[in-house]
Amino acid sequence: MSTIPPQSAQSVDILVLGGGGREHALCWRLRQSPRCGRLVCAPGNAGIAEVAQITALAITDPAAVAAYAVENSIGLVVVGPEDSLVAGVADALRAAGIAVVGPSGAAAELEASKGFTKDLCAQYGIPTARYRRFAGAADAHHYVAVHPLPVVVKADGLSSGKGVTVAESNEEGLAALAEIHGPVVVEQCLEGPEASLFILTDGQTVRILPTAQDHKRLHDGDEGPNTGGMGAVSPSPRLTPELQQQALDRIVYPTLAAMRERGTPFQGFLYAGLMLTADGPMLIEYNVRLGDPETQVLMMRLESDLVDLLWAAATGTLASVEPRFSPDAAVTVVMAARGYPWQPVTGTVIDGIDAAESLGVKVFHAGTRRNDAGQLVAAAGRVLNITALGHDISEARALAYAAIRKISWDGGQYRRDIGKAG
Ligand code: AMP
Ligand code: GLY
Repeated sequence: MSTIPPQSAQSVDILVLGGGGREHALCWRLRQSPRCGRLVCAPGNAGIAEVAQITALAITDPAAVAAYAVENSIGLVVVGPEDSLVAGVADALRAAGIAVVGPSGAAAELEASKGFTKDLCAQYGIPTARYRRFAGAADAHHYVAVHPLPVVVKADGLSSGKGVTVAESNEEGLAALAEIHGPVVVEQCLEGPEASLFILTDGQTVRILPTAQDHKRLHDGDEGPNTGGMGAVSPSPRLTPELQQQALDRIVYPTLAAMRERGTPFQGFLYAGLMLTADGPMLIEYNVRLGDPETQVLMMRLESDLVDLLWAAATGTLASVEPRFSPDAAVTVVMAARGYPWQPVTGTVIDGIDAAESLGVKVFHAGTRRNDAGQLVAAAGRVLNITALGHDISEARALAYAAIRKISWDGGQYRRDIGKAG
């Protein structure tokens, strides 16, 4: 990292990796900075194309990303999705002398291997569910068959939100186990509401970001299957400042210290998924990147310059930058394609985004493209994120839903209760 020049007032050419609502929200804020030079995003989407140049690039190929960055004189790379990080994209960029926000492949193990993280927690006394690791499903069979209920069965590796089963019977646990290929983690089931905590670190200095609350289930009332997230609010009504401080002191800071001690310091965004139990916050999982759709509400509240912040995080100078966030609340409602999360129907035409935005919301694109006729169409499972600010969550929520009524799209579905009290 020492080869990277210190923070300069010059503009910087930036490459963002990813193509969802998270990356649209990041690109939208980056573009607003006077220090943002050329802004390129791969693979991007139709919304991102309005604020950045889109390019095709193999974003999980470290050599390809580094070569592109060098050839195009990119000064800063911001990595959205975890698979690029786990593949070692940040390592290749650093080796090429390019500033990057995102952990090394070794530090990305915090997300890539649940077993790695559980062992780290055990070693450093970080509160998390009791667990056992197994090399494969067969080895775990007996343990799951007799485990007290409910029993939590997890595939060890990356699984995009799938791969975790909270089983109410031993049979259900065994059925989940049968679906897993590769290493397994079996856990005690924790009780309590969930909340997410986000920090940004340059490896030394830590900046705490506002809290946020995802809504993972497909249907109102937290019914239906788990998804990537159907909406988010910020701040989290559950993670009070006291609980947040406890989680930082007992979970996040010890983890960062442990990673430094192991010689694999963590740099980038760290997202802790927490269970707020009767015994205090406990770690469910780490993600080594920002959440989607949580980023959309965080970016809506960010008031200070995002290029300054990310440049500082990437160059070890975060001590000189303190991000500022609006005291207002933000809500984002995900509009997903019909059939999501199983078989989303894509290609359906979307209209009315300008009308929605005229109410004062921001519509981030999560999965859109232009068809041959130039119309905006759905291109993935999650399609739009209608994002609003308000004095409190209920005001932001009312505005987001008013804006949704301006959007005409036959192929969509969304939850009616994002940010609803209770
Ligand atoms: P993960 O991918 O590890 O975040 O797990 C996905 C979801 O499974 C979490 O958001 C929780 O709702 C649930 N979960 C995971 N681990 C546990 C646990 N030990 N106890 C209860 N619920 C859990
Ligand atoms: N919203 C959950 C995630 O980004 O993993």
